[in-house]
Amino acid sequence: MKSITFNQQTTSAIGIGTWHIGEGNQQRTTSEMAAIKYGLDHGINVIDTAEMYGEGLSETLIGNVIKDYQRDSFQLISKFYPYHATPKLIQTSLENSLKRLKTDYLDVYLLHWRGNTPLGETISGLEQMVQKGLIKNWGVSNFDFDDLQELISLPNGKNCRLNEDLYNIGSRGIEYSILPWQKQQQMSFVGYSPFGSDGSEYLQIKPVLKEMAQQKHVTVHQLLLAWVLRNHDLLSIPKTASVEHMKSNIAATEINFTADELELLDQSYPKPKHDGLETI
Ligand SMILES: NC(=O)c1ccc[n+]([C@@H]2O[C@H](COP(=O)([O-])OP(=O)(O)OC[C@H]3O[C@@H](n4cnc5c(N)ncnc54)[C@H](OP(=O)(O)O)[C@@H]3O)[C@@H](O)[C@H]2O)c1
Repeated sequence: MKSITFNQQTTSAIGIGTWHIGEGNQQRTTSEMAAIKYGLDHGINVIDTAEMYGEGLSETLIGNVIKDYQRDSFQLISKFYPYHATPKLIQTSLENSLKRLKTDYLDVYLLHWRGNTPLGETISGLEQMVQKGLIKNWGVSNFDFDDLQELISLPNGKNCRLNEDLYNIGSRGIEYSILPWQKQQQMSFVGYSPFGSDGSEYLQIKPVLKEMAQQKHVTVHQLLLAWVLRNHDLLSIPKTASVEHMKSNIAATEINFTADELELLDQSYPKPKHDGLETI
């Protein structure tokens, strides 16, 4: 398994995405739990969730898995709604998440996206949670370059440990300035939806991907994930409810590209020419 420096620690290059997990019937739940366990047992040591995911169902399922693991053997990220971004509501959301996750701290707690609460208030609430020992660090999600500049100009804003944005071969906007800037600031980057999420509406699979996957004896999904990881400085968080897919995603972290292959992919999925944060 490829490893990276994430949140100032060495972690697996992929984390476990968990949107839509815990929302199905017993059979599905069993399969989702088995997939997460497989991931944790085979070197993945970051899990990403949110209070939004199934209104707590994702966190509840994760709690039922991680209770059997040593807490410091993995990092846990969760997120709160922008309308819970005041100090008082952050604490309530966090305590509810911790209860569902059956743990007493998060490694990183994220503002899921920007809302109406002034950022300074949110930072202050998050810093209080760090002081209380309920979170180790905090970060943000779906922030564009300007949002990030505003954030770090505020008191304690530079304590932001990570930003999580959409990143896959069809959505490359963050490569323009967000990714290099975060690297320079030593602010970790988490790229979500490496496969373009559940449907084809977010990511068009062009013939070049199918042909290259065939030539390299891998699947298109493996190629998509390996492409995101070609850059060693970010964490990608694919979601899967299947042990087979989890296995395949772990194997994908070992796939490398030649310069010619990357150039060929750039022709069909061009590098960004301007800033442009996309979201799902
Ligand atoms: N911060 C944010 O605003 C934000 C937004 C979106 C997502 N996220 C996070 O990022 C995670 C990943 O994004 P996502 O859930 O949108 O989508 P994704 O990981 O891009 O794609 C998930 C889809 O890919 C399928 N899949 C996974 N591995 C596969 C494989 N090896 N072969 C074939 N199909 C495979 C899954 O089906 P199976 O389950 O059947 O394998 C599922 O349909 C989320 O779960 C969440 O944790 C964060």
